[in-house]
Amino acid sequence: GTMWTQEMVDLIQNEGDVDLTQRAPTHMSFPFIEWIIPSIGSGLEQANAMPSPRTLKTYLPFYLLPRKALHLLKIIYVARNPKDNLVSYYHFHRMNKALLAPWTWEEYFESFLTGKGPIPTLSCSVLGLWEARDQHHILYLLYVFVSQNPKHEIWKLGEFIGKKLDDSILGKIVHHTSFDVMKQNPMANYSAVPAEVMDRSVSPFMRKGAVGDWKNHFTVAQNKRFD
Ligand SMILES: *[C@@H]1O[C@H](CO)[C@@H](O)[C@H](O)[C@H]1NC(C)=O
Repeated sequence: GTMWTQEMVDLIQNEGDVDLTQRAPTHMSFPFIEWIIPSIGSGLEQANAMPSPRTLKTYLPFYLLPRKALHLLKIIYVARNPKDNLVSYYHFHRMNKALLAPWTWEEYFESFLTGKGPIPTLSCSVLGLWEARDQHHILYLLYVFVSQNPKHEIWKLGEFIGKKLDDSILGKIVHHTSFDVMKQNPMANYSAVPAEVMDRSVSPFMRKGAVGDWKNHFTVAQNKRFD
């Protein structure tokens, strides 16, 4: 969802010009501010070196965002069914060698419920942003709606960013952010990241982009507990 939204935002800012959005891998165009990745560098330094207005990426929960700067920010947040989120994270962890592994599905599931796992608990980010959405410039997107009606959600993003998009540009962005096209986009599919970091033979970075895949992973008992 994050990668997807970044691609949409980039295309909106560049009025559908695909060549411009191909200028660099997504993680270079959008600094990931709380991360330092040895082969890539510090997201914060990258952000500091950019001219304004900047578009940044963060997974920080709302309460860690700087209060003094909130009125200057436009925040786009993407929430997904937490069940699908968990499945997506699980496969990402399996292939990402920089993260703790190996986890069985059962271990991963339990660690999420107890809040002791590698991914932030729901209450920090999903609910934090939801509660704040009317007090700040926050666009709260739902993955399922983007999936069902990408054109409308991209139009909403454009309005929020302040770009009027005509129908042909909207159509172009819908096409370039479809799962099959993004999977083949070398700037978005992490193909430049070496196999020591992301082992694509375990699981591709862009796996399914589907809604409801949790049904293929959760047992009936797990589903009950998760609810
Ligand atoms: C990433 O994109 C490149 C260029 O289109 C393609 O050759 C490669 O197969 C893609 N990687 C994955 C994992 O789909």
